[in-house]
Amino acid sequence: MIGPHKRILVTGGAGFIGSHVSESFRLDGCEVVVLDDLSMGSRETLHKGIEFIEGDVRDVETARKAVKGVDAVIHLAARVSVRNSCDAFTDDASVNVIGTLSMLDACKDSGVKRFVYASSMAVYADSPEPTPIAETYACKPISPYGVGKLASEQYVRTICPEIGIEPVVLRFFNTYGPGQTLTPYVGVITIFVNRLLDGLPPIIFGDGEQKRDFISVDDIVTACALALESDSGGETLNIGSGVAVSVNQLANVLCEMIKPDLKPQYESAKPGELRNCIADITRAKRVLGYAPLGMVEDMLEEIIEHIKSTRN
Ligand SMILES: NC(=O)c1ccc[n+]([C@@H]2O[C@H](COP(=O)([O-])OP(=O)(O)OC[C@H]3O[C@@H](n4cnc5c(N)ncnc54)[C@H](O)[C@@H]3O)[C@@H](O)[C@H]2O)c1
Repeated sequence: MIGPHKRILVTGGAGFIGSHVSESFRLDGCEVVVLDDLSMGSRETLHKGIEFIEGDVRDVETARKAVKGVDAVIHLAARVSVRNSCDAFTDDASVNVIGTLSMLDACKDSGVKRFVYASSMAVYADSPEPTPIAETYACKPISPYGVGKLASEQYVRTICPEIGIEPVVLRFFNTYGPGQTLTPYVGVITIFVNRLLDGLPPIIFGDGEQKRDFISVDDIVTACALALESDSGGETLNIGSGVAVSVNQLANVLCEMIKPDLKPQYESAKPGELRNCIADITRAKRVLGYAPLGMVEDMLEEIIEHIKSTRN
């Protein structure tokens, strides 16, 4: 269990989730170190009270420097695109699998006590129904990204106990919130809002009836903090909302809120994307005391306003 006033390393801490996690730990009185190669993240997102190391998690020497004096690692650095991983699978595995192994290597003989690994719902087999799935559900990823995340989870669970570190694996579901980098691949809410603000219709891949579990970045931050504070060593936990929302529902609500005259357009489904993936969060509730606060429909107004305020 890691108390306050500790030194925490957040890899990928200049990215979307990482910048929220780092800032929250800083405000809680921790010493925060961020290791990020800035391939996606931005240094400007980080408060000057956060120590920043620019570097690649695959470089073990850099990783060793970053874990020096650290009590816990939140390992978020990754290539974060299911769709991109279908083409760039070597690069995906290099960052997501070798990068994780390199961090574990660096943690050997360090003072690190807990290693929190950011996994994903992409590790699961596709689910025929939009019913919540527990951590015991079949892990049969359908994308190279999911394969890499599952392999890394298994490395983390296997290696950490051998090197005297408690692992906690958190499987994040579709995360949304302020500061998500706009790319064509990740963050359907951010993508749809930006298109609508540009006066363009949202593009839906497939029939739009695929169901997702949208979770606020604030709830993800809380889960990361709980994973350090609670007696959760050795656990693998779903971190979602437990609520199913279809891509059609989301697109229609956003059209209504931003440009009621626009309607979604449809293109063929993309490989590697799950039909249904909803989290059963019973275990995270029990182990962490995790209780998501943000329901996506209540957060859209705020997200739209935030995106409007940050566009040039
Ligand atoms: N956003 C989601 O919906 C979601 C869902 C499930 C899991 N996750 C996981 O959460 C974590 C954070 O995702 P995010 O949405 O904040 O993505 P992000 O792309 O905003 O953040 C990832 C960060 O890692 C950094 N990075 C990439 N490769 C690196 C390397 N080789 N060395 C050092 N830094 C590197 C990037 O510069 C970026 O700042 C990832 O592990 C991702 O797989 C995210």
